[in-house]
Amino acid sequence: MGWNRWARRVEVEPSLYAADFSRLGEQLGELAGAGARVFHFDVGDGHFIPEITIGPIVLASISPLVHGWGGVLDCHLMVSEPERHFEAAAKTGGDSVTFHVEACDDPPRAIALARKLGLGAGVVFNPGTSVEDAVRASEGADLVLCMSIHPGYSGQPFMPEALDRIARLRSLLPDEMRVQVDGGVHAETIGPARAAGADLLVAGSAVFWNDAPAAAYRALVGAVSEPVRG
Ligand code: DX5
Ligand code: ZN
Repeated sequence: MGWNRWARRVEVEPSLYAADFSRLGEQLGELAGAGARVFHFDVGDGHFIPEITIGPIVLASISPLVHGWGGVLDCHLMVSEPERHFEAAAKTGGDSVTFHVEACDDPPRAIALARKLGLGAGVVFNPGTSVEDAVRASEGADLVLCMSIHPGYSGQPFMPEALDRIARLRSLLPDEMRVQVDGGVHAETIGPARAAGADLLVAGSAVFWNDAPAAAYRALVGAVSEPVRG
């Protein structure tokens, strides 16, 4: 629990899904050294999305490292029956769970369970789901994640219509609730996504699919840094 304690006003979150898994700890260490604090961990079950991604075993390996650097793990559960997986996420060092409204028939119960396990709680909605449905499901959550791709894998283009959806979401949520965006966030799209109202910006391929992830992370942060008033 504690998004408003962990996360700065704006966070660029490296999405581990796009990492080089033969060098995962090393890459995360470089990113932590470059200032990354919130790491996005994508769990896919081969059912809610066609892809199987990473899960508790990987989380258990990396969470001591990430916590040792003062970081946190934000778990995006692209799975059916998400509540079945909250306990494993908590036990293996996850700090927060975000579940899809399309996969959950009782969001208040899911949020209460996350709280009971000491986890942060987020609600995420797909491009085909209405903003209003997501807002209705989000009462008591820390964040709402607006997908700007169809969830599944890294490297897809940003869907431009997500900008209006982010802005509408921001206007409907209480101020203390964070707005996250995930999918196709890169040098050209991060500024518009931030301007539309997102403050947690997930980036997979834009961070990892190049020779220097730490430099790529810094450039993304630079693109959304607010000018110092003087
Ligand atoms: C995919 C995941 C994303 C993914 C984003 O469905 O939820 O977090 O890693 O990758 P990019 O930033 O490349 O779209
Ligand atoms: Zn994700």
